[in-house]
Amino acid sequence: MIALRTEKELDLMEAASRIVGLVHRTIKPLVRAGVTTAELDRVAEEVIRSHGAEPAFKGYHGYPATICISINEQVVHGIPGNRVLEPGDIVSIDIGAKLAGYYGDQAITRTVGKISEAEEKLLKVTRESLFKGIEAARPGDRLSDICTAVQDWVEQHNFSVVRQFVGHGIGRKLHEDPAVPNYSPPDRNPRLRKGMVLAIEPMVNMGKPEVVVAKDGWTASAEDGLPSAHFEHVVGITDGDPRVLTMMEEEIDTPG
Ligand code: MF3
Ligand code: CO
Repeated sequence: MIALRTEKELDLMEAASRIVGLVHRTIKPLVRAGVTTAELDRVAEEVIRSHGAEPAFKGYHGYPATICISINEQVVHGIPGNRVLEPGDIVSIDIGAKLAGYYGDQAITRTVGKISEAEEKLLKVTRESLFKGIEAARPGDRLSDICTAVQDWVEQHNFSVVRQFVGHGIGRKLHEDPAVPNYSPPDRNPRLRKGMVLAIEPMVNMGKPEVVVAKDGWTASAEDGLPSAHFEHVVGITDGDPRVLTMMEEEIDTPG
């Protein structure tokens, strides 16, 4: 069952998403060489709670932290800890918050110091693929229009989409129906309807799509060890243009 949300509910999800955006804004200047990932997690939790919200990931299926930090070949669900960021790191930061019963969820991939041209391209194409997906989130079209818009953009640039993890519906739970893969959906392909709210989140590998999960039970890494990137927005389907409920990176990266 895919929930259809009212405009009022979309406003509430936007409010939750704004707190997530503020966390991204607060930790952005801290993402530099020498910081531990645990320190970023600590700041994130403090900002979320200071706004009267709750971390959405902490305790979710036993996840032990507020944010996910996935570095270089790590794809998603990296657990913050005593690892220290170094120049050249590619750092995917995924943050979720719950406010007044509704969820927000947003991932941004950042960098520390200088990265290679190929890595810059990976980040650019991954971000662009997210917006290809968002543009396809229109009533009357199908879920697969979003999924293949992401996949086609990524594969045209000779990168690969991860299969093992997918985007999701979001609302009163962090993960709701439908699954939003970054490739043609293998089974159900519902028609998109006004009021559906989707977290679209391409996870893109520079090399092969296969991922392996570490012994910690969470950290997913590219099997071939090549870098990976991840961007995520929450998007509401309206009568017309898609409504992005999460903050645009331009706004997040503007201090104030
Ligand atoms: N944005 C990710 C997702 O939707 C983060 C989930 S982390 C978890 O899957 F810990 F909550 F699982
Ligand atoms: Co998500």
